Amino acid sequence: MRDHRVRILSNAPEPPAYWRLRVRLSEAIAIRPGQFVMVRTREQWEPLWRRALVIYRMEEHAEGMDLEFLYKVLGRGTTLLSRQRPGDELEMLGPLGNGFPPNAETEVEAILISGGIGLPALYLLAEGLARDGRAVRLFHGEPTVEPNASLPFFEDFARALGPEAITLATEDGSRGFQGLVTEAVEAYLQRARPRRAIFYACGPTPMLRRVAEIATQRELPAYVSLEARMACGFGVCLGCAVKTQFASDRAPHYRRVCVEGPIFRAEEVIWNEL
Ligand SMILES: Cc1cc2nc3c(=O)[nH]c(=O)nc-3n(C[C@H](O)[C@H](O)[C@H](O)COP(=O)(O)OP(=O)(O)OC[C@H]3O[C@@H](n4cnc5c(N)ncnc54)[C@H](O)[C@@H]3O)c2cc1C
Ligand code: FES
Repeated sequence: MRDHRVRILSNAPEPPAYWRLRVRLSEAIAIRPGQFVMVRTREQWEPLWRRALVIYRMEEHAEGMDLEFLYKVLGRGTTLLSRQRPGDELEMLGPLGNGFPPNAETEVEAILISGGIGLPALYLLAEGLARDGRAVRLFHGEPTVEPNASLPFFEDFARALGPEAITLATEDGSRGFQGLVTEAVEAYLQRARPRRAIFYACGPTPMLRRVAEIATQRELPAYVSLEARMACGFGVCLGCAVKTQFASDRAPHYRRVCVEGPIFRAEEVIWNEL
C-alpha cells in the first residue's frame, strides 16, 4: 500500500448512470482483482475523508500504468471527483483490501453476479479467469436501462468474455431479462444445470444476501464483496467492521472490510447483522 499522486487522463459520464475515470501512475503496481483505492482530490479539506473506489481496469505501458474506475455520483466526495478535469491530480492510497482468491479449479464455471455499481469489482476477475481458459458468465442487474443506450462497460466485458456470456437484467424489463439479477441467475441454473459452479458477487446488500441463500440451497461456494462506509481504508479506525463467523467454530468475530475484506466467503457473513 502506498500513497500515489496520479494524473487524470479522462473523467466523463457514461450510461446508464455512471462516470468513468482514467488516471496515470508513473510506475506499474501489483493489483489483485477486487482491490480498491482511497481517493481524494489534491489540497482537499472538505470532505475530510477519502472515498473508496474499486479498481475496474488496468493497463501497463512504458510510462507506468493506467487505472480505470467506474463510479456513481452520490454525495459530496463523488460530486467533487466528477468536477476534476484531465490534467488534474488525485491522491490515491492503495491498492487496499484482500481481493478475490485465485480460482485454482479448472472444471468449475465462474458465475459473476453484480448489481448497479457493484460491476467494476468484477472486471479484472472476469478478464483473468477468461485469460486462464475458465468458463465465466456475468449476470448484471440495473433498475432500468434506456432501450437504445450503448453500454460501454458491457462492451468491455463482451470483449473479455464474449457477448453470449453476459446477461443483463433490468427490473422494469427495459433491456434484457425482466426481473432481479438473482432471478436471472436462478433461471440460468435451472436451465443449464452446470455440474460445478462458484459465485463471485458485488452489489447492494439485499442482492448479496440472496446470492448467499442460493449458494447455500445449491451447496455452491460463493464469494461476496461487501461495501461499508470507510474512513481510513487501512485498518486503524475500525469504522468498517462487520460481524462474521468462521466455518470452523461458528463463533462471531468482527472483521474489517478494508483489510480482512472486502471479499468474504458468503457463509462467513452474518447477514442479519449488516
Ligand atoms: C471497498 C469499496 C469499493 C467501492 N467501490 C466503488 C466503485 O468502484 N464505484 C462507486 O461508485 N462506488 C464505490 N464504492 C462506494 C463509494 O465509496 C461511495 O459511494 C462513496 O464513498 C460515496 O461518497 P460521497 O461523498 O459521494 O457520498 P456521501 O456524501 O458520503 O454519501 C451519499 C450517499 O451515499 C451513501 N454511501 C456513501 N458511502 C457508501 C458506501 N460505501 N456504500 C454504500 N452507500 C454509500 C450514503 O449513505 C449516502 O446516502 C465503494 C465502497 C467500498 C467500501
Ligand atoms: S475503514 Fe478504517 S478500519 Fe476499515
